[in-house]
Amino acid sequence: MNDASQATPVPEDEAFSPIRWQRDHLRLLDQTRLPHEEVWLECRSPQDVARAIRRLSVRGAPAIGVAAAYGLVLGILCLPSGKDLGKHFNGVIEHLGATRPTAVNLRWALEQGRQVFAGNSDKDAQSVAAALLLWAGQLHSQDVAANRRIGTYGEPLFSAGDRVITHCNTGALATAGYGTALGVIRAAWEAKKIKMVWVDETRPLLQGARLTAWELQRHGIPFRLVTDSSAGSILARGLADRVVVGADRIAANGDTANKIGTYPLAVLAHRHEVPFYVAAPISTIDPTTATGSDIPIEEREAAEVTEVIGTRIAPQGTGAANFAFDVTPAELITAIITDVGVLSPPYLETIQKALLQPKTSKGG
Ligand code: MRU
Repeated sequence: MNDASQATPVPEDEAFSPIRWQRDHLRLLDQTRLPHEEVWLECRSPQDVARAIRRLSVRGAPAIGVAAAYGLVLGILCLPSGKDLGKHFNGVIEHLGATRPTAVNLRWALEQGRQVFAGNSDKDAQSVAAALLLWAGQLHSQDVAANRRIGTYGEPLFSAGDRVITHCNTGALATAGYGTALGVIRAAWEAKKIKMVWVDETRPLLQGARLTAWELQRHGIPFRLVTDSSAGSILARGLADRVVVGADRIAANGDTANKIGTYPLAVLAHRHEVPFYVAAPISTIDPTTATGSDIPIEEREAAEVTEVIGTRIAPQGTGAANFAFDVTPAELITAIITDVGVLSPPYLETIQKALLQPKTSKGG
């Protein structure tokens, strides 16, 4: 096995899909080095993949899920001789699952991987790895297809000449390819509806300034980079028509966890009566999380706040809090754009209905 031809091929038109399986290892575009350098990391063990997820070399909820799926394949390929396959596999799942707590796509992918393993547990390690690789490849291409559907469903919500605010990075880099919120912007741009995009820089790790700007430049979509605190002024001056963001986890009632700074953006959009959209695949909805207050919020190292790209900006000894995500209450969300359709309030009902739908039909 170890043959990429056994995995479902990912469409070649994904100019910067950040995840590639190559023969017997995983290649990840190291997003900590962008936009200055395009460096591909070679992951040959689940530990390599876990490290890449933890340090945000691969990031964005859907991309984390797909990378973890390939991490499970590597887990089997790295099986130490004489070790019990089942015990070893559970350990790999735990190791990968402990990397980032908020993005539910990680847990979703690992649970699917567990089922693939269970369906093949009577086979030898090589065959189990082959089955997992086939599944991981399918997950990979399904995510690209889901993002394209999100774009198709989201585009009609836009009008010609729209100026859009977005936060963090939700493009091809944050997914297996194409993007969620940025995919919607891309689809609306292709339909000639986008005048320009306001890109929040997204402190502390600057995913907007480093990654969204990088992607929009490549698509030729006009944008201006702004500090996160500019949104109030932009909205008050009537300089934006819509806000569209991604999600790391959507609770059963529609409350949505996303990059820190999303919630204040939603409050401001509401204050200025500007539509606020969340774009995410169904895999980001977690029906087992009842409300936003049940979503675990990742806290990262203080150094990410006291430093900017390795340069200290606060006095030595400064204590800092680094909440990586916040929760936007459902009542501030105009619509949730998914791969099965556009969901409107009341989300408790529309989400439940959407989760039961086949992926190719329209939701509502
Ligand atoms: O910490 P990150 O960079 O992984 O955070 C990413 C986000 O918050 C994205 O908006 C979210 O994962 C959706 S990506 C399609």
